[in-house]
Amino acid sequence: MASSIELREVRVDAPGGEPILRDVALRIPAGQSVAFIGRSGAGKTTSLRLINGLVAPTRGEVLVDDKPLRETDLIALRRRTGYIIQGSGLFPHRTVFENIATIPRLLGWDAARTREAAAEVMNRVGMPFEKFAERRPRSLSGGEQQRVGIARAMVASPSILLCDEPFGALDPIVRRELQDAFRALGSDATIVFVTHDLAEALRVAERVVLFDGGRVVVDAPSRDFVQQKSPLVRQFVASATLPAGWQ
Ligand SMILES: Nc1ncnc2c1ncn2[C@@H]1O[C@H](COP(=O)(O)OP(=O)(O)OP(=O)(O)O)[C@@H](O)[C@H]1O
Ligand SMILES: [Mg+2]
Repeated sequence: MASSIELREVRVDAPGGEPILRDVALRIPAGQSVAFIGRSGAGKTTSLRLINGLVAPTRGEVLVDDKPLRETDLIALRRRTGYIIQGSGLFPHRTVFENIATIPRLLGWDAARTREAAAEVMNRVGMPFEKFAERRPRSLSGGEQQRVGIARAMVASPSILLCDEPFGALDPIVRRELQDAFRALGSDATIVFVTHDLAEALRVAERVVLFDGGRVVVDAPSRDFVQQKSPLVRQFVASATLPAGWQ
């Protein structure tokens, strides 16, 4: 079951006191896919990390399923949250299968169920189980590692999927393939996808939230976002090769 997410007037101060996020208010209904875009340092990663409690708000509140995170069991929340980051974050000394089995093991699934779910999700991301299960991450290409990262995040059907520039380090062709693979998964989860790339945002999300200087400056359905007149939006539109039908 997908979860709703809410950031209620959130402020985050850096340890030194500088504000990183100011007055961020967002409500993401269960099952929606949202892209966070913005320049480097705008506060995208910090906002994402609020959602699984890796960052705590200085003021305001974060709620998942209308329940404040400070009253939520964060370990249980993280077990139902998929997290995909740049460079895949795979455990290098574990096989592909062992990596994918991480959450099922924590959830106490038996071996047969774990193997079946791993094989299913690996096939869905184009990594056949027989061929890849026993490989180590370092023997895989960057694109293959990223596919395993997606499989690991998805294997236990998460309620929330947090993605922080997962395809940022890949060449444009592989990047496109992975965007398509990601979309084809048709996950039921609530998805928050951080990217610098507006074209990628439009491919993976139905709503785009633009951050600048630690604030949300535009929050719109993807179709409306590309029509916004704000100079920063125009800059993102001008520098992107928008997918067909979006001009
Ligand atoms: N723990 C911290 N201590 C001090 N400053 C921090 C801390 N975490 C983040 N910041 C600062 O907050 C700002 C926003 O950081 P954040 O990582 O959220 O940006 P971002 O939008 O994800 O950028 P990028 O696109 O480069 O990943 C940056 O200026 C960063 O240096
Ligand atoms: Mg970031």
